[in-house]
Formats: sequence, C-alpha cells, structure tokens
Amino acid sequence: MEFTEGKSSDELMRAQTVLWTHIFNHIDSMSLKCAVELGIPDAIHSHGKPITLSDLLSALSLSPAKAPHLQRLMRMLIHSGIFAQNNNGGDDNEEDAYSLTPVSSLLVKSNDSTTGLSVLVAAVLHPVIVNPFQSMSAWFKSDEPTPFSVEHGCGLWEVTGRDPEFNKLFNEGMASDAKFLMNILLRDCGDVFQGIESLVDVGGGTGSAAIVISEAFPNVKCSVLELPHVVSTIKEKRDVDFIAGDMFDSIPPADAIFLKVRYPPPLSKLFPPPLIQYFNFVRLECLYVCTVDPS
Ligand SMILES: C[S@@+](CC[C@H](N)C(=O)[O-])C[C@H]1O[C@@H](n2cnc3c(N)ncnc32)[C@H](O)[C@@H]1O
Repeated sequence: MEFTEGKSSDELMRAQTVLWTHIFNHIDSMSLKCAVELGIPDAIHSHGKPITLSDLLSALSLSPAKAPHLQRLMRMLIHSGIFAQNNNGGDDNEEDAYSLTPVSSLLVKSNDSTTGLSVLVAAVLHPVIVNPFQSMSAWFKSDEPTPFSVEHGCGLWEVTGRDPEFNKLFNEGMASDAKFLMNILLRDCGDVFQGIESLVDVGGGTGSAAIVISEAFPNVKCSVLELPHVVSTIKEKRDVDFIAGDMFDSIPPADAIFLKVRYPPPLSKLFPPPLIQYFNFVRLECLYVCTVDPS
C-alpha cells in the first residue's frame, strides 16, 4: 500500500494508535456520564469503605447479569483516575473493591444539591450540548454561526429559554461549578474584593458566585444580571439582587463588573492562552476572573 511505503512498522502502528485513540475518546466522557447517572460515586461514598463489585451491583439495584459490564465500566474509569481499586492484599479469594479518588469525591452529592459536581457532568454531557458536535462539518459548509445552531436552529440561550427542564439542569450545573470555584478563589485570592462596595456578576446564572462573595464580604452589595428566563427561576436570593436584562443592552452601574470565564484543558487547546493565568486577577474597569486549569 502506497501510504505505508518508506515508513517503519513502528511508525505505522503508532499512527494507527493515535487514530484509534481519537475514535474512541468519547467513551471516556460517556463512561463518566454513565457512572454519574447510575449514582456510583454516591453508592461508594455511602458504603463508607471500599465496595466490592457484588455490593456495588446491589447498591445500584442492577441485575447480577450486568456484573461483567459493570466491572468493565469500573475498569475504564479506574484507568482514567476517576475511581481506584483496592486488591485486598492480593488475596485471590477476596473480591477486589472500589474506592473514590479525589476526582470522584468531587461528584458525591451532599444535602445541598448545588455542591458536588455530578450535576455539572449531567449538564455538559447532555445531548443538547453533545449532539451539535455531530454537525461540525455541516456547520463549516453552512452559513450557520455555530454547530449548535445547525443542530437546534438557534443559540444555547434560546434553547435554555424554551426548554425549562434543560434550563434547570444547565443552571444547576453552572451553579455547582461556580460554588466550587468561588470557595477556592476566596480562600486563595479573596483580597481582590477588598475595597469594593458594589459588584455586578454579568451572566451570573442563579447567583452562586454572587452569594459566596456577598456572604464573605457583607459590605459588598452584590447583584446578578441575567436573562429573564434564568431570573424567573431564582428561589434563593439571600442578599443578592437579581436584574433581568441583556448585557449587550446595558449593565447596571457598580464598582466592579464580575465576569467569570473558565478555560478547562480541552478549551484551552482551542483558544489562545489568556493574558491572565491561573487564579491571577486584574482589576481594570472590569473584575475579570479567568481560571486556566493547571494541566
Ligand atoms: C456559561 S453560563 C455561566 C454562569 C455563571 N456565570 C457561572 O460561571 O457559573 C453563562 C450565563 O450567561 C447568561 N447569559 C447569556 N447571554 C446573556 C446576556 N446577553 N445577558 C445576560 N446574561 C446572559 C446565560 O443565561 C448563562 O446563565
């Protein structure tokens, strides 16, 4: 074959391995989504100690016929560092047991539904967000602004506006991530908020970030500017004002405008590195909070 000419077998096998890796990359995301939907992190957490495959099957109320498949799913996720396996001191008569890692510990739900990042996984891996990736080449050949609009005929915020169930899931997912990040941000760099008397979080979702700031700095009057279909769902306002509007029309006056931007590793491949590096903030006219994950 022409394309193999002049190439060593090693080179060819390496090239083919890269292809296969890319072909099956989506299995990592979908296995994670499956684990979250089955409630595996919570089942291991509730068990209070490493859990065997048979105990995990019964904790998840799955048929024993699914044991080999659950074992395979766990093997995938152990390989990705989501779970860990304890081999019971190498005793062949003892079943191996699964435990949480720092990654899956983030997925455990608590009484407060906005902590625990399971809902973020469910929101971002929802078909509404994932399906448009099937339309990337169609988008290149079309006049549509995004693959998302090829798939849905409109933008993401129109979909959240017309689909209350997805709106709720998306907002909860964003809120869980905002709450997680804001607590770390305040712990490590809370001093950026010193001296501010008012702050508006633009596109601030259901107010997770604003609530965390307002509780940590009661002297800062926090408000959230959001689209009307998000503001209409807000139940818990605490000391935060919610303003329904469009940031492209106007932004209410405040000492600081807060805009949270996140570059997780796959997105940082797409966009040029931002000027502001990991947890490093500048206060210009706008308090622009940009996090770049360290990996
Ligand atoms: C990716 S979410 C981020 C939510 C939150 N800031 C966070 O970091 O978790 C973007 C938010 O911007 C809001 N949004 C989008 N377009 C907007 C606009 N034109 N004016 C105000 N808010 C907008 C959306 O409703 C959504 O809640």
